[in-house]
Amino acid sequence: MNNILIVSGHTDLNDSVANKKILDILDEKLPQSRQVHLAELYPDFTIDVAAEQEKLLWADVIVLQFPVFWFSAPSLLHRWLETVFLHGFSHGSTGDKLRGKKLVLSYTTGAPAEALDFDAFFLCLKTTAQFTGMEYVGSIVTGGVSYQMRENPELLAQIHAKAAAHAERLIALLEA
Ligand SMILES: Cc1cc2nc3c(=O)[nH]c(=O)nc-3n(C[C@H](O)[C@H](O)[C@H](O)COP(=O)(O)O)c2cc1C
Repeated sequence: MNNILIVSGHTDLNDSVANKKILDILDEKLPQSRQVHLAELYPDFTIDVAAEQEKLLWADVIVLQFPVFWFSAPSLLHRWLETVFLHGFSHGSTGDKLRGKKLVLSYTTGAPAEALDFDAFFLCLKTTAQFTGMEYVGSIVTGGVSYQMRENPELLAQIHAKAAAHAERLIALLEA
């Protein structure tokens, strides 16, 4: 089995329903995978670069798990990318440490997934994969998991069901 690193970019998992559920299921069903909860490790956005690079070196497959915030990935995930993907590590004439690793995007949105071409918003991440020699494998997307739904027990149950289905689709992709 490949080494799977799941990087959670949610800025507050204590205020998450969908991403938290997805991460819990992945933890249970993929016990050999490793999860990095950026918000818990780096609440002040000061990233331990060496520690994060070590995790990336270990990984064969990197999953970026996040909620869509303003048609992008959360700031904390971008901060992680900016500080950890360094010249000489991920790119540059000697920066080949990510080469050959697989990248999967796994994200949730408030809007229905079909409402917008969300994948187009992540051209930056796909290009980052290309630039660093990673293989972009694909994305797993779940839409229609908005904040307002949390107030209504039936709609809250829908979020849980969607998150569980999301986790199953992601596991199927990872095991393929
Ligand atoms: C600051 C902020 C910005 C958001 N921007 C978007 C957006 O641009 N498009 C969208 O569909 N949903 C947007 N949402 C909704 C989140 O994507 C949604 O609440 C999240 O995916 C649910 O996951 P969670 O339960 O793990 O927090 C936004 C939410 C927040 C808090």
